Amino acid sequence: MSGMELAIDRGRLMERIDALARIGAIDGTAGCCRLALTDDDRAGRDLVVGWMRDLGLEITVDGIGNVTATMSSPAGSPVMTGSHIDTVATGGRYDGNLGVLAGLEVIETVIAGEIELARPLGVAFFTDEEGARFPPDMLGSLVFAGGMPVEEALAVEDAHGVTVGDELERIGYRGGAPCPARPPHAFVELHIEQGPVLEIEDRTIGAVTGVQGISWTEVTISGQSNHAGTTPMSMRRDPALVASEIAVFVHRLALEMGEPQVATVGRIDLHPNLVNVVPARATLTVDLRNTDEALLQKAEAALAGRLVELADEHGVEIDTRSLARFEPVVFDPAVVDLVVDVARARGHDPLRMPSGAGHDAQMLARVCPSGMIFVPSRDGISHNPTEHTDPDDLVAGANVLLHTLIALATDDPEEGRS
Ligand code: GLV
Ligand code: MN
Ligand code: MN
Repeated sequence: MSGMELAIDRGRLMERIDALARIGAIDGTAGCCRLALTDDDRAGRDLVVGWMRDLGLEITVDGIGNVTATMSSPAGSPVMTGSHIDTVATGGRYDGNLGVLAGLEVIETVIAGEIELARPLGVAFFTDEEGARFPPDMLGSLVFAGGMPVEEALAVEDAHGVTVGDELERIGYRGGAPCPARPPHAFVELHIEQGPVLEIEDRTIGAVTGVQGISWTEVTISGQSNHAGTTPMSMRRDPALVASEIAVFVHRLALEMGEPQVATVGRIDLHPNLVNVVPARATLTVDLRNTDEALLQKAEAALAGRLVELADEHGVEIDTRSLARFEPVVFDPAVVDLVVDVARARGHDPLRMPSGAGHDAQMLARVCPSGMIFVPSRDGISHNPTEHTDPDDLVAGANVLLHTLIALATDDPEEGRS
């Protein structure tokens, strides 16, 4: 069978997406809550590992819980795909899950079609990509690629002081395979765009050129807790007010800097969080992103300067802690070109575009030629249960992934792209 006639099985892909989305389903929505290393994450992992086993793949679990399934032949370092199956607490059913299940589907299609390859294909799901429970995001793939020692990652705590290591043990996914892992031959991840660009441009396929830099900071503001009725406004040292000032400041900063700078205050916790008490403390997160490292540093410096001013103006103490910091990543131009060529050969008009969201592929890019394929997100909505992608687009993306991986795995190893 010629490679270009081969196509993935739409029904099987959609059934697996549905089955995985039932685990941690958010009632009354199509979305999911499967935070990393929870019981629901374990159930999702068990389901996907069962499918990997059914295909006769060689399965490894490494010291940070990344699960890799590889064809047992031919020999050699695999051409890999994959993504994550953890979600944010208000997640959709496609973010991450699509990349894992499409990868599984590609491998099943190649096995069933008896396609001869020079290298095996592998599919992985990486631990805690979202970072919503255990920051930083992309934790598992960061360790996989050697960007953080596994011991350091195992010691990361959630908001309740529970560690990654304890939770991995508890759910039975602390494996023995080494991490960092041996680099694959190449890595390509299929993902929903999670933004509005493909829909606006009326394109089905994005050939992702890179990922913007990410800077997450937790800011803790300590002031004077006091009675809301009796404390004169002039005598207040109010952390809630300062938290609001920070949210307004970073929003205006991003507008002033212009695209592609974005800024988000996604979490604010007040203590004691009572209607008639000036809070003692506010803790908030600031997420800054830019495709340009120098501009991202400029935004970080502006925030740091403003925090010093606010501490002085309001008589509060402000402490900061970095939760994540990743420089912008540029994907391998040969892999990006290959995605464009494969998409065109299948009748698409692909758009070269950067990613606004973080992805496991940006970590794999440290160790092997890497790239990504995007499919549209309805109304650009993601990290929200209403996240949706048209099934035709899911299938189109999976077929571009299929032929991209086959091309990478059939190159003459002596003259391979890498
Ligand atoms: C991870 O998914 C992120 O972009 O926040
Ligand atoms: Mn994702
Ligand atoms: Mn996500």
